[in-house]
Amino acid sequence: MKHHSKNFTFMKEFEIFHDIEELDNESKYLIHKAKEAASHAYAPYSKFHVGAAVILDDGTLVTGSNQENASYPLCICAERVVLYTAATQYPEKKIMKMAVVAHRKNHKELSPATCCGACRQVMSEFEVRQNKSFEVIMLKSKNEWLKCVSAESLLPYVFKRNNLHE
Ligand code: THU
Repeated sequence: MKHHSKNFTFMKEFEIFHDIEELDNESKYLIHKAKEAASHAYAPYSKFHVGAAVILDDGTLVTGSNQENASYPLCICAERVVLYTAATQYPEKKIMKMAVVAHRKNHKELSPATCCGACRQVMSEFEVRQNKSFEVIMLKSKNEWLKCVSAESLLPYVFKRNNLHE
């Protein structure tokens, strides 16, 4: 079968880019900022350094990195750090897009890392609370950037706060 496009789209919510250069400029910028943020990870246990960057509706950039603890379950992912930072510092602004990158300590090359289930749950509630979805960019596997239209697309049939009241 003829290969028409390098960008493979599936289930319409997801798009794969085999070259970072094919992404839009804003996504490339966010990836760059997420890489910088990964250098502030505190990950002496896993040695897996993760950075996340979000852009808000007025162009404000917020970054976060994973923060670990000797009491392992207290480790927090870069995604939740960046979201809670944005919510605290810019409570009126909406998140438009998030990029997440990771690398192992002292490795220059990025390691594929897609958001964990706990973060997907939190990301999804951010979409509910701001009444707007946001895009998510992650490195799915070597040379495969995944762009998702929303956090909810990463967690179908997610439990939501309206389940508690309706
Ligand atoms: N981690 C993140 O920060 N985000 C992810 O998407 C995957 C996992 C962190 C948590 C922990 O500090 C380390 O990576 C290893 O799991």
